[in-house]
Amino acid sequence: MSDTHKTLVIGLFGFGVVGEGVYKVLKQTPSLKATIKKVCIKNPEKERDGPAELFTTDKRELLDDAEINVIVEVINDADAAFEIVSEAMTNKKSVVSASKKMIAEHLCELLILQQATKMSLLYEAAAGASIPIIRNLEEYYDNDLLHSMRAIVNGSTNFILTKMFTGNLNYFQALLLAKQLGFAETDPVLDVEGHDAAHKWSFLLTHAFGIVVNHHTLVYTGIQRIDAGDARFAAEKEYEIKLVAEAKKMENDMIAAFVLPQFVNKTDPLAFVRDENNGVVIESGFADRQFFYGKGAGSFPTASAILSDLSALRYDYKYEYKKLYHHAPCSLSNDFFLEVYVSYDSVRHVPTEQFAIIRTTHRRQDRCYLIGTISFKTLQNSTWWRDPDISLIVMPDGVNHAAAAQLKLSAHRSVEENKYEYFPR
Ligand SMILES: NC(=O)c1ccc[n+]([C@@H]2O[C@H](COP(=O)([O-])OP(=O)(O)OC[C@H]3O[C@@H](n4cnc5c(N)ncnc54)[C@H](OP(=O)(O)O)[C@@H]3O)[C@@H](O)[C@H]2O)c1
Repeated sequence: MSDTHKTLVIGLFGFGVVGEGVYKVLKQTPSLKATIKKVCIKNPEKERDGPAELFTTDKRELLDDAEINVIVEVINDADAAFEIVSEAMTNKKSVVSASKKMIAEHLCELLILQQATKMSLLYEAAAGASIPIIRNLEEYYDNDLLHSMRAIVNGSTNFILTKMFTGNLNYFQALLLAKQLGFAETDPVLDVEGHDAAHKWSFLLTHAFGIVVNHHTLVYTGIQRIDAGDARFAAEKEYEIKLVAEAKKMENDMIAAFVLPQFVNKTDPLAFVRDENNGVVIESGFADRQFFYGKGAGSFPTASAILSDLSALRYDYKYEYKKLYHHAPCSLSNDFFLEVYVSYDSVRHVPTEQFAIIRTTHRRQDRCYLIGTISFKTLQNSTWWRDPDISLIVMPDGVNHAAAAQLKLSAHRSVEENKYEYFPR
């Protein structure tokens, strides 16, 4: 039988939101020639919507079964997931996974494992769920013409921000609603503090630009400090606030990358991304701008990406990590400037001398803000902007490299001019 008609015998780890979705979607897709032989779960007492003999709590029944040639790993425990995935690949099984935290935390080891075992490890569902972004970055943008990638990759935070704008809710009310509707976890820290988006961004950077980076090294934060006053400012200026993951190729071919709240213009495709949806905007040499949009979470949308990976396994598809292995990989830069808006209760908490330029300051009854340009390196090395009373939001098109040298030259003078003029203490 040719590889294009390879029959997939699946061992499924996890039968939660995603696992059950995979089970149901596969039942409706007989043409795929894929059957689930066994499902490994954690709690044997839970009621399952499937025949009892399908389930086990013994992972060996899947990992040691020679007939099972594919492991689909969709559990919610990153450490256990890494063990399962490593063992499966070592046992010559292909793997499909949706565990973004596991992939981000173990990317280096997973790259080595793929080279050592020559087995496929596909994880389209792990970033943007239903949006086919990883395989497009690998195959379609297989050249060095990719200029930038900007994305909303976390549905929970996008839902909360949408409700803060359109529903006039404050952050806590919007978070509560997200929890009630199942768009945020009971413990929402991974989402709202930006860790989840940074996890996804770390391996998307690998597929887009060949950068292998631990997400802890990225500059990122979430939406937890966004204030109602910030939403008012955005409304006045006809902006929206989004948690944007950005990667932009600079003039020296290095990449400026971060995950930070950002104001976006109404004409920006990312402004169109509402509620729990995700979106990715790619700018490349000749194609100009392209926009991917779709559901970034949920049982069936996530299962659909897993289905697509399974389908690719029928012809033994593997990520080649072309930007990493076949091109000269890019590296991250911190030699650029960001134009940012910072709101605060007291200017004493904002080291204004760190800004190269302060364009404006504004005092309101409840809260003040400034808009200024600061070196990314300074931001990377300081913590004041992570203070609970301070909200930092990147301005639209806020990445500034061309003027970096000029900004550096004028930095000292501008700060001296600005800080006394604008900051009555
Ligand atoms: N939900 C989404 O929309 C979505 C989207 C993209 C990616 N993901 C990722 O997909 C993965 C699964 O998410 P989910 O929402 O489906 O989680 P979930 O609903 O909490 O389900 C997790 C499943 O994993 C099982 N499990 C946990 N530890 C296990 C172990 N050591 N061995 C075997 N089974 C184990 C649980 O077993 P019990 O049933 O016995 O408790 C449960 O069935 C996560 O990594 C998540 O980040 C989720």
